[in-house]
Order: sequence, then structure tokens, then C-alpha cells
Amino acid sequence: MPFRVATFLAFSLAGAVLAYAVLGQSLVWAGAWAGAALWLVLDAIRAKRLLDVMRRDVSALPSRGHGVWGELAERIRKVLRERDRQIRQSDDRLQEFLAAIQASPNGVVLIDEQGRIEWCNQTAAAQFGIDAQRDLLQHLANLVRDPAFVAYLASWNYSRDVVIDAPAQPAGHRGHPIRLSMQVHPYAGNRRMLLTRDITALEQAETMRRDFVANVSHEIRTPLTVLAGFVETLQSLPLDAEERARYLRLMAQQSQRMETLVNDLLTLSRLEGNAAPPTSQWTPVRALLAHCEEEARALSKQLSQQGHKLSFSQEADSELSGAPVELQSAMSNLLSNAVRYTPGGGEIAVTWRLLPDGRGEYSVRDTGPGVAAEHIPRLTERFYRVDRSRSRETGGTGLGLAIVKHIAQRHGGELRIESTVGKGSRFALMLPVTRVRQAAAVKARA
Ligand SMILES: Nc1ncnc2c1ncn2[C@@H]1O[C@H](COP(=O)(O)OP(=O)(O)OP(=O)(O)O)[C@@H](O)[C@H]1O
Ligand SMILES: [Mg+2]
Repeated sequence: MPFRVATFLAFSLAGAVLAYAVLGQSLVWAGAWAGAALWLVLDAIRAKRLLDVMRRDVSALPSRGHGVWGELAERIRKVLRERDRQIRQSDDRLQEFLAAIQASPNGVVLIDEQGRIEWCNQTAAAQFGIDAQRDLLQHLANLVRDPAFVAYLASWNYSRDVVIDAPAQPAGHRGHPIRLSMQVHPYAGNRRMLLTRDITALEQAETMRRDFVANVSHEIRTPLTVLAGFVETLQSLPLDAEERARYLRLMAQQSQRMETLVNDLLTLSRLEGNAAPPTSQWTPVRALLAHCEEEARALSKQLSQQGHKLSFSQEADSELSGAPVELQSAMSNLLSNAVRYTPGGGEIAVTWRLLPDGRGEYSVRDTGPGVAAEHIPRLTERFYRVDRSRSRETGGTGLGLAIVKHIAQRHGGELRIESTVGKGSRFALMLPVTRVRQAAAVKARA
């Protein structure tokens, strides 16, 4: 400021001196006035220049100027820079929030006072089959037309959720429709946030649980009813010794059935709850196969007079790591199925081999009745039997393959089923490289 006053006085003085020197003493004041006016004009030009710059592009303000206008420009520049930084920062924060909401597996829709979509994340857009950009400011009730949802949205009573079939089902999706649980949460007056959750798996699990309990009850009730019937007969009818013995034999069969069922269920729940099988315990395939063979020959003899043509081959002398009891149970299960479902005289070939990629394969091929293609994917479901009456004759409850599949998965492997009706089936247990090693190599190292 003193600089400004000094330049002003200097201009006036210069005007006065110039007037005195050139025009004489009488015009000194006029000279001083002219000097002051010149200063004012120059000052106005600088102010106008600054204003022009600000009008065009604020960021082009000179970073360093002199005089009051230069300082003013510098200060404005600083304030603007700070404001820009704050805007950028809050914009970044907003983008982070939006990215976080985008990443949510749940759908999020913000609805304005009129019920229009203000914003929605990709999950919600996919579930509703809408376009997150194009359908902004559309009325949500026009896009999601499920009557239950429309009524819910209009009710303004959001204490509970509403469950509907997702308006957009994934392309090529078959079977159960995608189910959505939707709940609105009001905020900031009349605005609403809609949260959606895919509960298809939850509902399926609930259905499976219900089916499972129903199946177990049914499987236990059947032999129980038979047993109760026999008990009643024994109590009320005078029977001779031979008849009594026959009834008791049948009763023993039924109680055996119940015991097997309960044991299988316990095995399954143990498999589900237990930690992964050990990787350090190695069992020779030879021993597992020998045990299978012994069991299969006994079962074959018991089931048919003619017996089966059983053959066992082991292409490589290998060892398996995992829980030996489980591996044995899986192998025996597949073989006992082949023996039970293949009529007497049929052929059953059991093979162990190493695949070129290092995996191990235990396979059981039979010349039995085979399984129709539509049943194959369901064979490993609990209690699933192709032909209930035939399976029951042989004492099956439909848990065997469910157990085998579980064991395979626990060991990082899988169960493969190929079958042709009338020709026979091939059940193969595939084990990963990590669980198979060549016995010979081990011996050589030792
Ligand atoms: N080798 C096979 N040939 C033909 N059908 C088979 C064969 N193995 C299994 N199945 C069919 O698959 C169904 C399911 O087999 P799974 O072993 O799970 O149950 P199960 O043998 O009936 O009873 P469980 O094994 O619990 O005693 C059987 O009921 C049978 O219909
Ligand atoms: Mg079975």
C-alpha cells in the first residue's frame, strides 16, 4: 500500500514538475492533476487486465505480480487452488464409496421422493435386468413389475422384506429361478434405499434340509413299520417253531437295515465335519484292492449262485495318501454296487492305473443293467435310487454314492460315472497327483 501511495504521489509530482518546467508556474496544479489522472488510467488498465484473465480462465492468473493487483491475483490463485484440492478430494472419496458399493454382492438402489431411481449398483442392475445409466430417473415400479414388490414399495411399511423371483434370470438358466429378498430402508426424509439379496442358495439349502429330514424319517419308518407288524404277529398268533424262526429272521433283516442306514448317516456327517484327510499317511493300493476283492467275492457268492466274473488289475504299483478307511470305503462302495446291481454271470473288472498327467484312477466296470442318462447326475444325491424297489431288494438306501463323492472331494479328487442302459456302467474314482505316488520309486529311495 505505501508503494501505491508513493507511485501516486510520484506521478502527481512528476506531472507538477513537468508542467512547471514546460508551461510555467501557473499550471503546476493542472500538471499535478494530469499526473494523478495518468496514474489512475494506468491502474485501471492493470485492473482490467486482471479481470479479463479471470473472466477467461481463472487458472491462468499470473503467479507472481507486483503491486496490489499482483498480490490480489496471487491470493485469489491460492484460494482457488485450495478449493480445487478440496473438490478433488471429496470427489475421490465419493468415487471410493461408490466403488465399494459396486463391489457389494448385494444390490443397492437409491430412490428419490417420487420413487425414481437416483443411483443403483451393477448387482441390482443385473438382478433387475436394467441399465444402471440409461434407466436413471425411471420409476422403479415401472421397471420391477412384480405385484408383491409394487405393493410393498407403495405401502411405506418396510419393517419386513419381500421375496420375489428376480426380474432378470441369467441366460440359459434352468431349474430353480433366482430368488431375491428385497428390503427398503428410508433415509433423509422421504428418500429410500433398496437393498436386494440373492437368497436362491439359502432357499435351496432349506428345501434340501427339509427333504433330507423327510427322507431319513421315511427310510427309518419303513423297516420300523415292518418290525412292528412282525412283533404284533408274534404276540397275537400262535406260531409253530419254524414260522417263528422265519419271522425272527425277517425281523433281524429289518433291524440290520436300520443299523446300516444310521451308520451311513453318521459316516456322512463325520465326513462333512472333519478336517481334510492327512497328506503324510501313505497306503499301498495293492492292500486296498486286496480288501475290495475279498469283500466282493464274498458278496457275489452270497447274492447269486452263479457268481460274477470278477477281474482285478493293477497297472502300476502305487501308494495313496489320505485317510485309508475313507479310501477303502469309497473303493468298496463302488465295487459292492457293481456286484449288487449286476445279475449273476455278469462281468466286473476293477482296474487301478496312473493317467499320463500323473493322476490315479480306480475304476469299476460292470456288464449290469446300466443307468439312464437322466439319472446319472443325480446318483450322488442322498437317498437317490434309480429303481427304489430293486435297490430295496438288495438292501440299498441310496447313501453309498453320496459317501463316495464326499470322500473323493475331500481328497481333492472326483467321481466319474459313465453308463449305457442294457450294456453296463463304469464308475471311476480319480485322485489328484498330490495324493498318488509310485511305490517302486519310494522303495528305491529307501
Ligand atoms: N453299478 C451300477 N449299476 C447300475 N446301477 C447302479 C450301479 N451303482 C449304482 N447304481 C444305481 O445308483 C443308485 C444309487 O447308488 P448308491 O450306492 O448311492 O445307493 P444304494 O446302492 O441304493 O444304497 P447304499 O449304497 O446306500 O446301500 C442305486 O440305487 C442304483 O440304482
Ligand atoms: Mg450302494
